[in-house]
Amino acid sequence: MNVVGQLHSNIVYGRRVRVLTESIASVLPTNATVLDVGCGDGLISSRVVAARPDLRIEGIDVLVRPQTHIPVRQFDGSVLPYADDSFDLVVNHSVFTHLDDKYQDQWLQELGRITRPDGVLVLSFSGDTAFRQHEETIAAIDADIAAQERAHLEEHGILFVTDPVHRDLGFPGFYFATFHKPAYVLEHWQEWLELLAFIPRNNLDFQDAVVMRPRR
Ligand SMILES: C[S@@+](CC[C@H](N)C(=O)[O-])C[C@H]1O[C@@H](n2cnc3c(N)ncnc32)[C@H](O)[C@@H]1O
Repeated sequence: MNVVGQLHSNIVYGRRVRVLTESIASVLPTNATVLDVGCGDGLISSRVVAARPDLRIEGIDVLVRPQTHIPVRQFDGSVLPYADDSFDLVVNHSVFTHLDDKYQDQWLQELGRITRPDGVLVLSFSGDTAFRQHEETIAAIDADIAAQERAHLEEHGILFVTDPVHRDLGFPGFYFATFHKPAYVLEHWQEWLELLAFIPRNNLDFQDAVVMRPRR
């Protein structure tokens, strides 16, 4: 990446962390337990802790980075190693943006299982805005592929793009790029979780998010 690209990336990443931190830290009850699933280096959650030291935050990821800002546990990506009803808040930033539909369905059940009945989940996904940006990029390279992807997304509500970008980064084989129609998330995900709020483009004007609670 060139210097301008790196600078842009740092600014964008910094703003994203700030926006997400402020919205999470402001709504949590005192001493809440928080799990950041697919936390990466845990930077977002570490900022939440800085704003709210009473919170008990931990992260879990399939790929633990050499340096992390919060304690991060490694797992195999299937069953989450926590008892039922363990957390007040489960957050998931930019992870459903990379998993296929079958994997997501298993995950929705697992995430609901470990969240307390009166707890909440905040899950982000790549909705209409993210897809339009992706579509512009692909259309500039191959208009037919862009049209096929659009048609698939409109028909199925979900598009899993198996581009080669992640292949050499050490991520598992199921990890690519996924786009959702908001209607798919609002309807299909409610099989496992109950919708409390839909927040379009809350994540940097780019990803959408839903706030949900477990169904018991
Ligand atoms: C785009 S990164 C987002 C990292 C962090 N949440 C953030 O927003 O900065 C996606 C993360 O999901 C993790 N991941 C991929 N598949 C996963 C799975 N099945 N379970 C948990 N994490 C997964 C990856 O290792 C990566 O850290």
